[in-house]
Amino acid sequence: MGKLDNKVAIVTGASKGIGSGIAQVFAEQGARVVLAARGNDVLDAAAALRDAGYDAQGVQCDVTVPEDCARLVRTTTDAYGRVDILDCNAGICRLGSFLEESDSWRDAHIDVNINGVWNMCKAAIPAMIDAGGGAVVITSSVTGDLVADPGEAAYAMTKAALVGLTKALAREFADRHVRVNCICPGYIRTPLVEGMAAQSDPDDPERAIGAIAGAVPLGRLGTPHECGELCAFLASDEASYITGTQVVIDGGSTLPETTSMGQ
Ligand SMILES: NC(=O)c1ccc[n+]([C@@H]2O[C@H](COP(=O)([O-])OP(=O)(O)OC[C@H]3O[C@@H](n4cnc5c(N)ncnc54)[C@H](O)[C@@H]3O)[C@@H](O)[C@H]2O)c1
Repeated sequence: MGKLDNKVAIVTGASKGIGSGIAQVFAEQGARVVLAARGNDVLDAAAALRDAGYDAQGVQCDVTVPEDCARLVRTTTDAYGRVDILDCNAGICRLGSFLEESDSWRDAHIDVNINGVWNMCKAAIPAMIDAGGGAVVITSSVTGDLVADPGEAAYAMTKAALVGLTKALAREFADRHVRVNCICPGYIRTPLVEGMAAQSDPDDPERAIGAIAGAVPLGRLGTPHECGELCAFLASDEASYITGTQVVIDGGSTLPETTSMGQ
């Protein structure tokens, strides 16, 4: 018995990183999963789940394109007859200098991180309402709403916006039994974080990863599978009275005070 038995789920950004962990856990918990991402490597990710005995399909989809999002939802309802869960996880992060970057840096983050979630919710929520209700889980971040470092202006702005979108959609669709929540991960070891580590310490990216781990109270980065477990809970009927919330999953990284007196 899985907590998502008989559910049909869409996961965006599912070709790698956190999204592949979410898709994996959703499948382990009994969901039929449609994995979506921009590149055709998402087809391989879905094939790997099928090889492991799960019911999964891959669809190439750019979440910045509304027609792609509509096609993704159509493919899902054609294959499985319904949509119960939408996990909006696709996102980008590129560090940059606020004064030096062109505005296209800002717009790229808005396009994928905000408009991509907007487009997917617009495409999928009607199908969830048709199914009698459902659950949306959005990947925000601790960055933006809780913390920020230099270089994160574009990313932080978009991730904070997703907290507001979560609350507004939760309120708007509560009467149609669609719950909307977001997760706020700290550092999770994924290709995105490995790319940021390579950017900040090109000579030794592992040194940068080690420095991050050393600053996390639990002493390590999180895993995509751990994010998947949280998303599966929020998407499941176990979370039937939870809507409009943000859940931090960060190994305690947002806990330390500015000065560590007493150490
Ligand atoms: N890794 C972390 O520490 C961390 C922390 C907080 C939040 N997040 C968020 O988690 C999400 C996943 O991050 P990750 O680290 O796994 O990143 P990643 O770069 O490893 O994977 C990103 C995924 O998103 C997909 N994607 C990107 N642009 C897309 C588009 N336009 N259309 C469809 N798919 C697209 C990629 O194909 C890929 O599957 C992002 O929203 C990110 O902001 C990550």
